[in-house]
Amino acid sequence: MTIDPVALADPAFSRAVIDWQVAHGRHALPWQNTRDAYRVWLSEIMLQQTQVTAVIPYYARFLARFPDVAALAAASADDVMACWAGLGYYSRARNLHRCAQRVVSEHGGVFPADPLLLAELPGIGRSTAAAISAFAYGTRAAILDGNVKRVFARVFGIDEYPGVKAVENALWQTAEALLPQAGIEAYTQGLMDLGATLCTRSQPACPRCPLAARCLALASGRTAELPVRKPKKAVPLKSATMLVIIDRAQVLLERRPATGIWGGLLSLPELDGHQPGIREEVDVQGALERKVARFGRFGSSLRLPAFAHVFTHFKLQVVPYRITLAGRHAYAAEDETVWLAADQIAQAGLPAPVKKLLLEVMRDL
Ligand code: ADE
Repeated sequence: MTIDPVALADPAFSRAVIDWQVAHGRHALPWQNTRDAYRVWLSEIMLQQTQVTAVIPYYARFLARFPDVAALAAASADDVMACWAGLGYYSRARNLHRCAQRVVSEHGGVFPADPLLLAELPGIGRSTAAAISAFAYGTRAAILDGNVKRVFARVFGIDEYPGVKAVENALWQTAEALLPQAGIEAYTQGLMDLGATLCTRSQPACPRCPLAARCLALASGRTAELPVRKPKKAVPLKSATMLVIIDRAQVLLERRPATGIWGGLLSLPELDGHQPGIREEVDVQGALERKVARFGRFGSSLRLPAFAHVFTHFKLQVVPYRITLAGRHAYAAEDETVWLAADQIAQAGLPAPVKKLLLEVMRDL
């Protein structure tokens, strides 16, 4: 790792950030110019995953409705949720309410100044605790949110993903080592402002940056590569053999089990145990015939081109077989199986890739 937190303890770093913040940073945001810990806390929670412009009207409405921590603690959960509605990440609102109640019951209605005590409260992580403590009480505490990680990753040329625990630990040590002796509010706000306005993810405004002269990413032309993106997890590959069983312009569908992918939806019958390319059945033809025997006399089968469907957590490879019956058993249709007419496919509630496949197969009939 190309980072030595102690060697970085250079007072010129915080001086540059503070001077820039005073001259070019943001000074008129609604939650600035106050030391009211309730206001500071409320704004920091709202700003955790939401942009300043989206937060501003919510912040104003919230304060008008719940002017202090006691009012918020005494409110009903429904009222709090209603006031938060539209801001997203609703666990923040639930934690906000719980936090207010704990500040009232455990801290006499006064937010503690110690970042370690703040960080024990619901919804307040280490960085938010430091920000609240710095802005409300002038405590010399280090923040390290996503924006600050980006600034540090670039300035110090950290070419590892900052989410890795060891890298994150080093970044925290760096953040602590860089803290100024005085001016924590302007420094903290300056780091936030830099990350939000100049050192943006794409097209950072390096010519205007007070850290440009010391930025390793800029010096080596790597601002676009740093911070290193989260490594993509390899998505597991699953495979399914789907049977398009056709008889007189109708296709046989089966209801899927309530749990698992496409739970409860009608879909194509599948050949259990045979996973093409993963766990091959030796006698596929035999397995197809056994599966189909319930529904009718086997006519012919044709393997269709495989295709992939990507879910969030895995990729499903589908190998379809078109099977034409030479006669349908006159069995009482069960709830779990349905013969669907070709012209009903487009309107049926089927999984998207299944519908697409069926529309193609039935078009060619
Ligand atoms: N993002 C997180 N905290 C912030 C603050 N106090 N001002 C502006 N943006 C922020």
